[in-house]
Amino acid sequence: MGDKTCVSFTLNGEPRSLELEPRWTLLHVLREVYNLTGTKFGCGTNDCGSCKVLIDDNPVNSCVYPAKKLEGKRVLTIEGISSDKRYMHIPQAFVNAHAVQCGFCTPGMVITALGLLLEDPDPDETKIRSYFTGNLCRCTGYVNIVEAVNLAAGRSTHG
Ligand code: FES
Ligand code: FES
Repeated sequence: MGDKTCVSFTLNGEPRSLELEPRWTLLHVLREVYNLTGTKFGCGTNDCGSCKVLIDDNPVNSCVYPAKKLEGKRVLTIEGISSDKRYMHIPQAFVNAHAVQCGFCTPGMVITALGLLLEDPDPDETKIRSYFTGNLCRCTGYVNIVEAVNLAAGRSTHG
């Protein structure tokens, strides 16, 4: 038990203040404090991307992000995307492109897709594949994930 720290930040559009222990990760805060279990714990070592959230619009692996750095930040999780009219077409694109099999990687994939589209609304396939290199999927072979991002960007590779 270390000294407690207090941080104020925005979580899915809502202001939050939290007293936390310095060793807590953002993933711990999301799942254990706020019960936002859509963000998945995969490896815990920065390798799989299943724990991704957006911090100030950038995809970040929450399993290695120290919660004490949250002061003044804007955090968006899969729950925030799914209830936001501006963004809910992205998870729907994953469903429509059959890019969801077991579903474990999907929240992190959707977060990464939004991060990419906020940075570049019209990414080509090379950029999509390169942007997703930190997101592991054991099931889909990635082709349908690329298709999902194309759909979310308003295109279909099937014409
Ligand atoms: S759980 Fe965070 S990168 Fe795998
Ligand atoms: S859909 Fe199963 S790990 Fe990606």
